[in-house]
Amino acid sequence: MSVILLEWYDAHAREMPWRTSPQARSAGVLPDPYAVWLSEIMLQQTTVATVKDYFIRFITRWPTVRDLAAAQDADVMAEWAGLGYYARARNLLKCARTVVTDHDGVFPADHDALLNLPGIGPYTAAAVSSIAFDLPHAVLDGNVERVMARLYDIHTPLPDAKPQLMIHAKALTPARRAGDYAQAVMDLGATICTPKSPACGICPWRDPCAARAAGTMADLPKKTPKKAKPVRHGTVYIGRRTDGAWLLETRPEKGLLGGMLGWPGSEWVDAALPHPQSAPPATGDWTENSGEVRHTFTHFHLILRVVTAQLPPGAEPAQGTFRPDNVFRPSDLPTVMRKAYDLVRSDATPHMTDSQSLL
Ligand code: ADE
Repeated sequence: MSVILLEWYDAHAREMPWRTSPQARSAGVLPDPYAVWLSEIMLQQTTVATVKDYFIRFITRWPTVRDLAAAQDADVMAEWAGLGYYARARNLLKCARTVVTDHDGVFPADHDALLNLPGIGPYTAAAVSSIAFDLPHAVLDGNVERVMARLYDIHTPLPDAKPQLMIHAKALTPARRAGDYAQAVMDLGATICTPKSPACGICPWRDPCAARAAGTMADLPKKTPKKAKPVRHGTVYIGRRTDGAWLLETRPEKGLLGGMLGWPGSEWVDAALPHPQSAPPATGDWTENSGEVRHTFTHFHLILRVVTAQLPPGAEPAQGTFRPDNVFRPSDLPTVMRKAYDLVRSDATPHMTDSQSLL
């Protein structure tokens, strides 16, 4: 079965900046393990389309794992801004530094050694082992789960079905060309065995597919319904000094958006509770913006009030530090904080010069 899929992949492999084509691989060229690892960390919970630009910026700025290991934490967090799941970026740095200190700057060509590195779990260890080193380890991401559930007509709902799906994924993984095979199943899931309206007519696995035979492909994979996400709310304070500097903080390492740049603000509490009281980070004439920011995290929806003030030259903030306007890059903000910035910027009156406008 894997042979049919590999033949399909030889003709239809998607090009991606971290990939080596099946033709080059067959000539003995394997991709740089650093590039494979970086891409796989970025691709968790994030689409290929979003990851491409981030990947290129990272690999251009830090071409080797040694370069990344030597980077400033704040630079890496800023470059990651907008990708979400910021624990990945913190672990990325930890992993790069461990590869340098414990493995002489070379990713180990060994599944268990990879699994021992910070931020590398079973999925990433299998992906790097197979894609970078052609070791026969099975990857099981959302695309592969869907392909396996259909190929074997498995009706157990996810996530309970995972062990069963993994048994099939392992059994299909070939001893040769494991890297091409892993990427082939992912590509099949992304381009043909899609969640809606799968293109069964052109699928290389249409003959062996049990769900196709049973006509159940559109119902698979089954999923246990997710719990509704609770809503939380809070306040952020966007303060700007008369010289244009912005009042910002680096969020604590632990917790949501840890290590990221952000606006000072309140706790985020359950929406059923009274709005969290918090003192503004500096004395000033604070005004509530008429809009609000909405953002969804993995486990909750967040609604933020946005309060703004122009602050005097001598302002002494109790929270955060001023960042001059020519140093502050809105793209360094994680998305929820960027939304607050965009909200107040869209309010700035067009006739005002940048430093006249409140924000
Ligand atoms: N998703 C995660 N890793 C991938 C890869 N190497 N190719 C395509 N999609 C992916």
